[in-house]
Amino acid sequence: MTDIDRLKAELLDAVAGAGDAAALEQVRVAALGKQGSVSGLLKTLGKMTPEERQSEGPKIHGLREAVTDAIAARKDELESAALEQQLAAETIDLSLPAPEAPRGSVHPVSQVMDELAEIFADLGFAVAAGPEIEDDWHNFTALNMPESHPARAMHDTFYFPDRDAQGREMLLRTHTSPVQIRTMLKEGAPLRIIAPGRVYRSDSDATHTPMFHQIEALVIDRDIHLGHLKWTLETFLKAYFERDDIVLRLRPSYFPFTEPSVEVDVGYTLVDGKRVVGGSEGWMEVLGSGMVNRRVIEFGGLDPDEWQGFAFGIGVDRLAMLKYGMDDLRAFFDGDVRWLSHYGFSALDVPTLSAGVGTLA
Ligand code: DAH
Repeated sequence: MTDIDRLKAELLDAVAGAGDAAALEQVRVAALGKQGSVSGLLKTLGKMTPEERQSEGPKIHGLREAVTDAIAARKDELESAALEQQLAAETIDLSLPAPEAPRGSVHPVSQVMDELAEIFADLGFAVAAGPEIEDDWHNFTALNMPESHPARAMHDTFYFPDRDAQGREMLLRTHTSPVQIRTMLKEGAPLRIIAPGRVYRSDSDATHTPMFHQIEALVIDRDIHLGHLKWTLETFLKAYFERDDIVLRLRPSYFPFTEPSVEVDVGYTLVDGKRVVGGSEGWMEVLGSGMVNRRVIEFGGLDPDEWQGFAFGIGVDRLAMLKYGMDDLRAFFDGDVRWLSHYGFSALDVPTLSAGVGTLA
């Protein structure tokens, strides 16, 4: 047996005998480290004659390879043994009671949006959406508010400091009405859509927050008139408040995107000093609406001589407050868990027309 064979047998024994990662590392350093026995042999190659090198070279390199492979294999073995041991030691007691799941609630705004979608789906309306970062044209110009229009000033708009890549002035949409334009351009006519979503205005007090929710409705068809609008509003509000004694009052008003425009009040009754929707002791304004202005239909890419329509826009947060009796809008967006668990809804309380769009309890 040559010295190399002997060294090889010794080293392979040592590798096989290493009981853990630290012992194996010691063997590796002793063989392959800078001062290691195998490294020492490799250094002798330089001083050999070409003939010696030809016969010894392959043996020494073979030794180094065998030891390196053996170390890698032993390392794998040790690692899987450690894993086996850990798996055998760890247990889960499946009979233990599960930890109580944290219970969330559905925010009243989400609940009311679902209620509205349910009511309008039953009337044949689809749900449409548009971007919250909107361009000036969709938010204003196409809704018949050209650049100098005074109605623009009433919107307390959040503008972005820079224009977009196409040079358009960008803003946070101040209402859901631009979805009217987007839907007409994309889908043509006839149309029956609602568009719920977030809108933004620079305004903040007990009844205004910089972000709030609206729902827009748009109907485009042939021979549409104000009677269709009034019936739709009455049917919707009766379903939403789950009362038959809903009384509406339509007042002439002005919006650039509708002609004629009507503001809609709903009658209330005072019960223990609180306003309850129904009857007509007093009036609360709930929404803006009207027949879609001819110019808006044109901006939507349609011929106003062929197509007419009505539209309305409602504050979702305000509708939630009226139905569920909250009085400070700011609490809606504070994220106070006490408020949420008091006013929130169970995930199982899904609004349906058959089971009711109010609370189950
Ligand atoms: N966009 C209006 C606003 O935010 C609300 C509105 C009024 C929407 C009349 C309409 C409408 O669709 O016909 O103040």
